[in-house]
Amino acid sequence: MMSEIDEYPKLCKAPLFYRQWEIISDPSRFINVLIREFGDFIHYRGLINFYLINNATLIKKVLNETHRNFDKNTVIYNRFRNAFGNGLVTAEGAHWRRQRKLIQPSFKPISIEKFSRIMLDSSNKTIERWENFCKSKTTFNLTEEMNMLTLEIAGKSLLSDGFNSAARDIIRWTHVINKYSAGVPFPIFSKKWFPSPLNLKLRRALREYRSFMSKTIENRKGNELEEDLLSVFLSMRDEETGQSMNEDEIAEEVLGMIVGGQETSATALVWTLYELSLNAEVEEKLLNEIMNVTAGAQIDFSRIGELKYLKVVIQESMRLHPPFWFENRNAMHDVELGGVNIQKGSMIAFSRYALHRNTDYWDDPETFNPNRFDEESSRENNGVNSSAYLPFSSGPRVCIGRHFAMMEMMIILCSILQKYKVRVNPHYKHKVVINLTMEPKGGLPVILERR
Ligand code: HEM
Repeated sequence: MMSEIDEYPKLCKAPLFYRQWEIISDPSRFINVLIREFGDFIHYRGLINFYLINNATLIKKVLNETHRNFDKNTVIYNRFRNAFGNGLVTAEGAHWRRQRKLIQPSFKPISIEKFSRIMLDSSNKTIERWENFCKSKTTFNLTEEMNMLTLEIAGKSLLSDGFNSAARDIIRWTHVINKYSAGVPFPIFSKKWFPSPLNLKLRRALREYRSFMSKTIENRKGNELEEDLLSVFLSMRDEETGQSMNEDEIAEEVLGMIVGGQETSATALVWTLYELSLNAEVEEKLLNEIMNVTAGAQIDFSRIGELKYLKVVIQESMRLHPPFWFENRNAMHDVELGGVNIQKGSMIAFSRYALHRNTDYWDDPETFNPNRFDEESSRENNGVNSSAYLPFSSGPRVCIGRHFAMMEMMIILCSILQKYKVRVNPHYKHKVVINLTMEPKGGLPVILERR
């Protein structure tokens, strides 16, 4: 009889410093090369040491079944902590448990319904502005447009009108924070005190952001009528202790949500429109669904659930192009994983990009095929693929904003597609770059055609 351990891939050691510098020039390609050459369970030793896994069962152990053995005390998350503090994305231990328990109810589907108005209004404003691009057949940068749109939605959902007055600054701050976060975490350069130009810009951006948040929170106290997340954070009380969040904690949560939720959603939108422009049949089927459900009118929150094909289109887009493409954890003590003893302090890493293309789980993985996610296919494969599909992660650290993000993406895509065909400029040469997320290099140049 085969034991559980026989089913895991065998651990393979890559040669010391193997193709080390590619970790900087193209980390995703570097990981794909490692997997191709050494298999689905690899021990890498170089300037940064890690165990790389590309097996759904082992990943599930790290994120779900034995998650208590792993935390986020890695060089990568330490760099994130320097950049946007100790909000939920980076928090650990008792602090994370308390914050997650406090914040979780605000992100339930029923609680986020109220943000659909902001999503719709902001989408409409963008679409109106695009009218000129459409008339003049101007090529524009879809990545920039989607980033502005998702930043406005995140900013207004978190801070209401407080966002309008500081929008330009918030764009500038998040730009610096995203750039720093995406850097390779070589220890000395990551220290905030190391005086590189980027580190100095980061310190200044964080100083300005904290001063802005202090004023915003001060103005809001006693005036908590706004229906935004800031008011919710200000009024939250721990059920057991009665304690509220202090100003630092609120500022860190707001920033973590802007950074964790804005670029990820924008990137997923860009990739979905990219795939639609290449897959005419999918686009046509999607448009039929949208017209059947909306009859050309604005989508109403209560009917979003009827846009079933739109949902699977987004799911398939995030399979091929998972925005948060890479994940990592730290072994908190000596642990056994897949029959291998892993030492305390080791980094465990996996690439969602590679997992979502692993032929053990996906037929014809390079093909954009939303039908993989429809109800019938999911029933047929007994949910096997779902364990190898992790755009929002899994387990206790699953993305808290996933319902918000799905609603936002569905509203934005529905609004855009009703009005325009988005076409990639024929001169575009496809190349991917890794910032905080994985995106088309230089932004995606597109042209609009009216429906
Ligand atoms: C398409 C959009 C998004 C994607 C692909 C995405 C992806 C993810 C992933 C993969 C994680 C887990 C990282 C880990 O394993 O530790 C995560 C966590 C998180 N996300 Fe998202 N996210 C998206 C949108 C959002 C939005 C809109 C928000 C907030 C408004 C948000 C807030 C967070 C927070 C706070 C966490 C940390 C949760 C915790 O550890 O308790 N995300 N996200």
